[in-house]
Amino acid sequence: METKEILLELRKKNRLTQDEMAEKLMVTRQAVSRWENGETVPSSDTLKMISMIFGISINYLLGQPQSAACPSCGTPIDKTRDFKTPNNEISNGETNTKHNYNNGGMTMKSILITGGAGFIGSNFIRYMLASDFTHKIINLDTLTYAGNLENLDTIRNDSRYTFIKGNICDGRLLDEIFTQYNIDTVVNFAAETHVDRSIVDPDIFVKTNVTGTHTLLECAKKHWKINLGDKYDREYTPGVKFIQVSTDEVYGTLGNTGLFVESTPLAPNSPYSASKASADMFVRAYNETFGLPINITRCSNNYGPYQFPEKLIPLMISNCLQNKPLPVYGVGAQVRDWLYVEDHCSAIYAVMTKGRSGEVYNIGGNNEKQNIEVVRLLIKELGKTDELIQYVQDRPGHDMRYAIDNSKITSQLGWVPSYTFEQGMKKTIDWYVDNREWMDRVVSGEYECYYRDMYA
Ligand code: NAD
Ligand code: TYD
Repeated sequence: METKEILLELRKKNRLTQDEMAEKLMVTRQAVSRWENGETVPSSDTLKMISMIFGISINYLLGQPQSAACPSCGTPIDKTRDFKTPNNEISNGETNTKHNYNNGGMTMKSILITGGAGFIGSNFIRYMLASDFTHKIINLDTLTYAGNLENLDTIRNDSRYTFIKGNICDGRLLDEIFTQYNIDTVVNFAAETHVDRSIVDPDIFVKTNVTGTHTLLECAKKHWKINLGDKYDREYTPGVKFIQVSTDEVYGTLGNTGLFVESTPLAPNSPYSASKASADMFVRAYNETFGLPINITRCSNNYGPYQFPEKLIPLMISNCLQNKPLPVYGVGAQVRDWLYVEDHCSAIYAVMTKGRSGEVYNIGGNNEKQNIEVVRLLIKELGKTDELIQYVQDRPGHDMRYAIDNSKITSQLGWVPSYTFEQGMKKTIDWYVDNREWMDRVVSGEYECYYRDMYA
C-alpha cells in the first residue's frame, strides 16, 4: 500500500478528522524522535499509531515477549497491573502473587474515575491515594448537585491527581482525555443515583446512566482495541479494563427469603435501576461482541462520610441534628443490606486488580436491616426520641427487600468487609456531627427546593 492509502485507512479506522490525524502524526513523529534519542518511551497511544503505520505489534516494538513473566520466579503476570495495593503489597492481576516487578520505566497506568466528586467516587479516590499507588488518577465529573469538590479537599494538591470538569456523554472530551492521559483503566461511578429523583424526572437518568456509559464504552474500545477496523478482532492493549460500578437494585426486589446472586435475572423496578440495568447490558454486550475487557460490580446500599443528605442515613442524621421530622416511607418495613463505603472501595479495588475479565461481582456486607430499625438506631445514637418519626406516603414501586450473596467475591478474590454495621455507623455518625458545615453547604441552593417539593 502507498503511504497515502495507509494514512487514509488509519484515519478511517480511528474515525479522525484530517486535522486530528495531522496532529496525531505530529505527536507520533516527536515521540519517535524522543524515543530514538533515548529520552522517553512513547505513550501506549503513540505506540499503537506506530504499530499501525508499520503493521507490527506493540510487543515487538517494545522488544518484549508476548506474555510477560516475573523475572525472579517466572510466574506469568500481567505487567501493566503492577501497582501497589493500599496494604503496600504489589498485586499482579489474577495470579495475586506478590512480585517486585519493574516494568521498564514505562508509565502504563492512568485510571479514569468518573463521578469522582460524588459520595463513593470521592471515597475511592482518597482510598487509592492513601496508598503508595504511583500512577495517575484522572477524575472526570460534571459536578451535578451531588458532586462536590470539597469532598476531595484533602488530596486536591496530590501530584498523582487531576480533576477535569466534564460530562461522560461528551465523546470528544473523552477522546482528548484518553489520548492525553493514556488511560488504561476506567472506573465508572458517574451516574444519577437517587431513586426518588428518577421517579420525578427519569430523562436525565437515561442520558447520564445509559448514554453516558455507552459513550465511555465506545471511547474505551476506540482507544484500546488494536485493530479497530476489524470487527472480528478481539485484541486489546494489554492490561486495559473497564469497570462499571453498578447496584444490586438492577435485580429488582426479593421476598422474605433468598439472596441476589450474579446470575439472578435483572428485573429493575425504578427508572434509576432500569437505567443502571440498561448500562450493565451495554457493558456486557461490549464484552460479548467486541471482547472489551470489563467487570461489573453490583453493590448493596452504601453509607459513610460525604454521602449527600438526600439518601436515608445522612438525611436522618441531618434531620435529627436539626430536630426536624424524619420521613419514613410506608411503615418502614423495607429491608436494605448496608455496606460501609470504605468496604465498597476495597471491593472495587479487588475487582480492578484481580477480577476476571467479563465477570460480574456482587458486593454486600451481610447487614440486612429494616428502614425503621436504622432510623431508630440513629435516633438513639443522637440522643433524640421516636417523636421525630413521621410516617409518610410510600414511594411508588418501592422495592421490598435487597440482600446479597457475596460468596463469589469473597471466595474468588479474597475480599471481605472490614467494618461491622455498628463500627461503620459510629464512624458515619461521628463524621456528620463533626462536619455540620459540610452538610450546611451542600444542601443549600438546588437541594432546598428539591426537599420542599419532595416532602411537602
Ligand atoms: P453520587 O450521586 O453521590 O455521585 C455521582 C457523581 O457523578 C456526582 O459527583 C456527579 O456530579 C457525577 N455525575 C453525574 N452525572 C455525570 C455526568 N453526566 N458526567 C460526569 N459526572 C457525572 O453517587 P454515589 O452514591 O457516589 O454512587 C456512585 C456509583 O455507585 C453510581 O453509579 C451508583 O449507581 C453506584 N452505587 C451506589 C450505591 C449507593 O448506595 N450510593 C450502591 C451501589 C452502587
Ligand atoms: P435510599 O437511601 O434512597 O436508597 P435506595 O432507595 O436506593 O435503597 O433509601 C433507602 C431506603 O430508605 C429505601 O427503602 C427508601 C427509604 N427512605 C425513607 O423511608 N425515607 C426517606 O426519606 C428516604 C430518602 C428513603
